[in-house]
Amino acid sequence: MKNSDLGFIHNFIPSQNDDGRILLLLHGTGGNEDDLLTIAQMIDERATILAPRGKVLENGMPRYFRRLAEGVFDLEDLKFRTSELADFIINASKKYSFDIHSVVAVGYSNGANIAASLLLTRPESMKRAILFRVMIPQTPDKLPDLSEKKVFISGGKFDSQIPQKKTIELRGVLEKAGAVVKMNWEESDHALVRDDIVKARSWLGTS
Ligand code: MLT
Repeated sequence: MKNSDLGFIHNFIPSQNDDGRILLLLHGTGGNEDDLLTIAQMIDERATILAPRGKVLENGMPRYFRRLAEGVFDLEDLKFRTSELADFIINASKKYSFDIHSVVAVGYSNGANIAASLLLTRPESMKRAILFRVMIPQTPDKLPDLSEKKVFISGGKFDSQIPQKKTIELRGVLEKAGAVVKMNWEESDHALVRDDIVKARSWLGTS
């Protein structure tokens, strides 16, 4: 079901045989709200889907926040967009009557980066997160309490866009804030491989 209210073009696809889980799909640069549907199906075919399209355009390519160069983020815009997206998730939970505590973010690249930003500054917007090819997007002034959160991070060992040390830094900050983090590395670059998805599915099934 495609919709353009609540401030974001988005898909909301209710589960046919509800397992109570809501997958919040956050695409990479140049993607849209349809991009991760197949991957979501592979991760949990029974979940309800909420998938907003990023509102910032970079040469016509949707993103969730502005960047000044590759890997250099516009922090003011990141903060504003993070808050705007958190409000969207909360408003969507009211409109579509789902429990915000059932939200599992599934983000890839730019989408994973804003999911990490949500965790660090608006953690009430999700319960769990699956972050593919992610880096630390910002360092919050005050660490949130993430003791109720579980996070799966999957990086590519040969990713030229996401420096490994920035992924490891994110893991450290999340753990310091109390989150339980499972870290996985694939023998791959920025693109996802089948094992990213298989391992995310298995992690979600047991967390
Ligand atoms: C970002 O801009 O969020 C990251 O560099 C990843 C990407 O290219 O989207």
